[in-house]
Amino acid sequence: MRISRRPSPVTAAFDRGPAKYFHGRKQILHDFNELIERATQAKSGTTFLIQGAPGAGKSALLAECGKLAERRKWKVVDIPVRAIWSVDELRRTLGRGNIPVATRGSGQVGGGPIGKLEITVELASETMLKILQSGKDPLLLKLDEAQRIGTTVSRTNVDQFATATDVLYAIHNGELNRPVILITAGLGTTSDAFGALGISRFATGAFVELGALDKEAERAILYDWLTKDGDAKGNPTAWIDAIAQETHGWPQHILSYVKPSLEQLRADRRVMTAEGLNNVLKAGRAGRTAYYKQRARGFPEEERQSLARLFSDLPIGESVQLSTIMSSLTQNYGQKKAEALFRRAVEKGIIDERDGRYVIPVPSMQDWLVSNYDHIQEKELPSRLIGLSQEQRSTALATEKNLNQEIEAQSPGQLRDVEERNSGMDFGS
Ligand SMILES: Nc1ncnc2c1ncn2[C@@H]1O[C@H](COP(=O)(O)OP(=O)(O)O)[C@@H](O)[C@H]1O
Ligand SMILES: [Mg+2]
Repeated sequence: MRISRRPSPVTAAFDRGPAKYFHGRKQILHDFNELIERATQAKSGTTFLIQGAPGAGKSALLAECGKLAERRKWKVVDIPVRAIWSVDELRRTLGRGNIPVATRGSGQVGGGPIGKLEITVELASETMLKILQSGKDPLLLKLDEAQRIGTTVSRTNVDQFATATDVLYAIHNGELNRPVILITAGLGTTSDAFGALGISRFATGAFVELGALDKEAERAILYDWLTKDGDAKGNPTAWIDAIAQETHGWPQHILSYVKPSLEQLRADRRVMTAEGLNNVLKAGRAGRTAYYKQRARGFPEEERQSLARLFSDLPIGESVQLSTIMSSLTQNYGQKKAEALFRRAVEKGIIDERDGRYVIPVPSMQDWLVSNYDHIQEKELPSRLIGLSQEQRSTALATEKNLNQEIEAQSPGQLRDVEERNSGMDFGS
């Protein structure tokens, strides 16, 4: 008889970071692999950028790319944002000792007696490039939470800014005479942050807007967790069907159902009961709501309403143009505040870019936002609706909407298939 094991996630956080059972993202991994090969041959390298909302699976994908590079005998190093501009930090993360600059033999950093203060901008960059060049193996630098580069590298600190742009430029354009790839993952503002540092054109396949997983990958993840860690008895299809209905291919959602599943299976001695499934679904939904609430934290109710209104008339998963968003928000807040609100919404993963348009990254989050916050304010109501209850208003509006839709019924294909679109997005551009 097999002994039921405790769940063993890769990290303590369970629904964050490297995946125990990684599936999907095949096209991205394929593109990354090709880049690795090209870089090895050409003794060159570039930047690979992944961006997406929280819970999209960026860190998991980054870890997977790291494994892939390791198998190809690359040296793989996790670097903090500081390592882009700090000589000390880069030395430390590349394992070249954590010696303070002043005592490190100042010849290397300018030769002056005061050490650190003597480092000029040029020399800092030069030292950094030398550090990156010293070593035989091809080098993969992994930078997670890379959006922070936008707030950490300060434009007002001229030295820091110049060093960061020099270092990024040299890596991005493969000028190190060594295969060096910088792979970065971050929120939707990451590419802007890189743009501000002069990195804007990426090699084909080296810029990824990470969306939901396809159905096949989603089901494979659930299957692995249920049968391997959950050690479930019998056929898990019914559970997988039911859970996959609610997770929309969104990695963090999937993990929200995995944890209660494992607990339930333990409690029921690995037997999958209908009642057990109900408990799992309830707990998973609570996990999803917690995710939405966390995304919306820090946005006062009126801002949530403004954001909800942007998407209230759109089919779930449909995208909207930047100009539409901005003109609506500007009406409420004026230009400056509207821009700041939009940026915050992208930073928090409420809004995400897809090929120059904007979506709410998780379809079910659009539903949550709109159904909770798209309240029509009394003063904005058309006169025919004033005095009606919320419910009466909704009915009246729905009836009008139906009538309008019947009139416009000649435009089919409006409701694009969300899954198809999202899984298409998996593969970046
Ligand atoms: N392709 C995948 N296969 C299996 N699990 C995944 C996959 N992508 C993400 N996950 C899991 O989903 C959760 C959220 O992913 P994570 O990488 O932390 O998201 P992000 O870094 O974008 O916020 C983690 O537990 C992670 O292990
Ligand atoms: Mg992450």
